Amino acid sequence: MILVIGATGKIGGEVARLLTDSGKPLRALVRTPSKAGALTDLGVELAAGDLADSGSLDRAMQGVDRLFLVSVQDLRQAELQGNAVDAAVRNGVGHIVKVSGIAASISPGGPAEIGRQHWHTEHRIEETGVPFTFLRPGFFMQNLLATAAPMVARVGLLAAPMDGALIAMVDARDIAAAAAAVLTDDTHHDRVYDITGPRAFDYAQLAAVLADATEQHVRYVGTPPIMAAKVIRRQGHPDWYIQHLAEMAEMFRAGAGATVSSAVEDLTGRPPRSIESFAHEYAAMFRQGRAAPLVHTVARAGIGIASRAATFVRA
Ligand SMILES: NC(=O)c1ccc[n+]([C@@H]2O[C@H](COP(=O)([O-])OP(=O)(O)OC[C@H]3O[C@@H](n4cnc5c(N)ncnc54)[C@H](OP(=O)(O)O)[C@@H]3O)[C@@H](O)[C@H]2O)c1
Repeated sequence: MILVIGATGKIGGEVARLLTDSGKPLRALVRTPSKAGALTDLGVELAAGDLADSGSLDRAMQGVDRLFLVSVQDLRQAELQGNAVDAAVRNGVGHIVKVSGIAASISPGGPAEIGRQHWHTEHRIEETGVPFTFLRPGFFMQNLLATAAPMVARVGLLAAPMDGALIAMVDARDIAAAAAAVLTDDTHHDRVYDITGPRAFDYAQLAAVLADATEQHVRYVGTPPIMAAKVIRRQGHPDWYIQHLAEMAEMFRAGAGATVSSAVEDLTGRPPRSIESFAHEYAAMFRQGRAAPLVHTVARAGIGIASRAATFVRA
């Protein structure tokens, strides 16, 4: 039995779909079963629970031999994921597959808050002696849907504090495919895989890809980090998150996202999705004429013309 934690999220939902497609016995820990209709439709067994509730983790892990662990990034991520690790040990789980962060951020004194949190969880898992596999993805292409798409759709501008940084963005569905592969094959114990897309590109090249996909003009505008932080603050995000995004952007500008890994193809037998195919698939979200929540936020904030606004990264 495989337990998926984070199954209502981007990666976990696709992991659940891929594992049910392959007929694996599967359970998902969900906080709100009534909102997990997509999992129920797949035939996934649901266990109501929360990473903050150790009793619910123990119940969910009955009879489980493999655990897939991903959860939302926040300041309690290491503490909450640590609860799952402890429960896995108590219940004799034989393999923990964890989605971590980009390799350059994984260190106890690393440059970004969430990277430090991931380091603590990785370290805790290693200390248990339970076989593990860590997947360390870079920047998700899906981030662009929440951040870049509204402004591209509104004014044809891709604004970000990225200068000419090369980033090998990865489709979250390919992280899930890699996870599904390692969850069903015992040869990946105690291994760490960097997970990226098939090539690195900068934001000017990304703008050209989006222009091609939408058949509309898209231009990249590099924005000062301070302007990007202002926009994110006006959206109501907490200080730690604004700081985290600034730290991640700085890492990317320093080249942290430029290295391309062959892990997705090595693990799944097929290449990861390209930014071109992602852009074509989601072109409607970038096409002009769509309402744009981010730009509305910018306008409400009185920050000025769109070319001065900034999109940011989630990582
Ligand atoms: N975005 C990037 O570019 C990037 C890059 C590298 C690494 N990452 C890492 O990827 C991870 C996020 O993956 P994702 O985008 O697939 O996540 P996501 O879409 O944000 O989904 C988070 C999942 O965690 C669940 N969850 C949150 N708190 C929980 C709790 N207390 N108990 C049980 N479940 C809980 C959520 O359930 P509910 O439905 O109940 O909320 C949801 O299923 C983070 O660790 C992040 O650091 C992200």
